[in-house]
Amino acid sequence: MLRRLDGNSPSTIVDLGCGTGQLSARLIERFPHATIAGIDFSAGMLAEAAQRLSADPSHPYALLRADAEKLPLAPSSIDAVVCTESFHWYHHQAETLEGLAEVLRPDGRLIIASIATLTSRAESLIRGITAPSGRTIRALAPHQMRRLLRQSGFEVLHQQRIPRVGAVPWPVLTDARLL
Ligand SMILES: C[S@@+](CC[C@H](N)C(=O)[O-])C[C@H]1O[C@@H](n2cnc3c(N)ncnc32)[C@H](O)[C@@H]1O
Repeated sequence: MLRRLDGNSPSTIVDLGCGTGQLSARLIERFPHATIAGIDFSAGMLAEAAQRLSADPSHPYALLRADAEKLPLAPSSIDAVVCTESFHWYHHQAETLEGLAEVLRPDGRLIIASIATLTSRAESLIRGITAPSGRTIRALAPHQMRRLLRQSGFEVLHQQRIPRVGAVPWPVLTDARLL
């Protein structure tokens, strides 16, 4: 994910569903001149992220408690959004992507890496068996993710499986650009 952003010099980056801020910390290291904002709706996760990120007081960063599905960000204000292992929890994925298309600048990058199925049928099966728990997993197959992104005004630049021990099938990274 970090490599995909190299060469773009984004000056504002949002780590969506930042959790404990592991990726935010690496973004700060990699893009020392960028403003980095970690967004998550869990106060507990944000508290851990705050602890982790306060290790480098020299860098401007923000942590924001918000729902990824209703982002309180100004239109066309963000250069890049990264989102790891979070998108599969979103209830309204199409609307979330439309919201992201609003807050990103034209040409802005959206890179999502998340658990993924292989087929629409498998996606529907997993959605069905997880729904009764109230924590529905929407692990889109790669072609479903591409379709959703295109419908929201993005061009898909790259897609790849990410080898990971213990995850079958491997998670998928999708890199897209707002048209
Ligand atoms: C498995 S953690 C991943 C955290 C981090 N991105 C990482 O890769 O380590 C998923 C995170 O997504 C957050 N999350 C899930 N749904 C969300 C939503 N609708 N809005 C904001 N954050 C959300 C959770 O609170 C959790 O911190």
